[in-house]
Amino acid sequence: MKIGIFDSGIGGLTVVREIRRLMPGQPLVYFGDTARTPYGTKSRATITRYALEDTRFLLEQGAGIIVIACHSASSIASAAVANEFSVPVFEVVSPSVEQAARVTRNRRIGIIGTRATIESRVYDHKIPELLPGAVVLGMPCPLLVPLVEEGWLKRRETRMIVRKYIRPLKERQVDTLVMGCTHYPLIKDIIEAKAGKRIVTVDPSLQTALAVKRFLEASGDSAEPDSPGDERYFVSDLAPATEEIARRFLGGKIKLEKA
Ligand code: DGL
Repeated sequence: MKIGIFDSGIGGLTVVREIRRLMPGQPLVYFGDTARTPYGTKSRATITRYALEDTRFLLEQGAGIIVIACHSASSIASAAVANEFSVPVFEVVSPSVEQAARVTRNRRIGIIGTRATIESRVYDHKIPELLPGAVVLGMPCPLLVPLVEEGWLKRRETRMIVRKYIRPLKERQVDTLVMGCTHYPLIKDIIEAKAGKRIVTVDPSLQTALAVKRFLEASGDSAEPDSPGDERYFVSDLAPATEEIARRFLGGKIKLEKA
């Protein structure tokens, strides 16, 4: 079965990277909405409309299962996507909620993400459903997406900004931190260093890929490990730097096609 994965841009390639690692040879089609990125600063209505359009495009490309790799779209539009289309829909929030609920010891969980993700309060609702009494503390981190896209992955400025965002969560004694944005796995080492040893981080890209793998295995649809990969990567706008940035997210060569 072909996996269709979409994101507001190229950040969702962090999810593709894990899917490829765990399910080599599985056919996939990716759509990055680079013409309309970012989603994290947009309204609920707009994000929902874009998510429905992105899904429709992937289904037209033959996807049989959808993965919403974007946290902003997952937080706001996953129910709309699941209601509108009859294919299985995965998103990045639920697997990270489950993992956070599993690993926390003191039931105090911090979430970092875009404004859209944090303001959706999806984690505030979902985590206590699984873990009664859990305290969820969200912190919007709007500066991190542009810093990662600029490739400022080791810079002092990035470390300072991460520290500023995480400090209030540490002060309120979270022991678990969900990296609730496609871009954060690229600065995971900085986030972990600033969070400190006592805080466990949750990487939704890995948790989502694991959930998709379990589903495909259970439905008998996983590809033979060595079958040649049928992979296509579409974007809605192809600027000169896009492929270079995309390579960083995927961790290897990539050929982008304009949708
Ligand atoms: N992909 C988005 C997310 O994970 C980050 C970039 C954006 O704001 O569109 O929320």
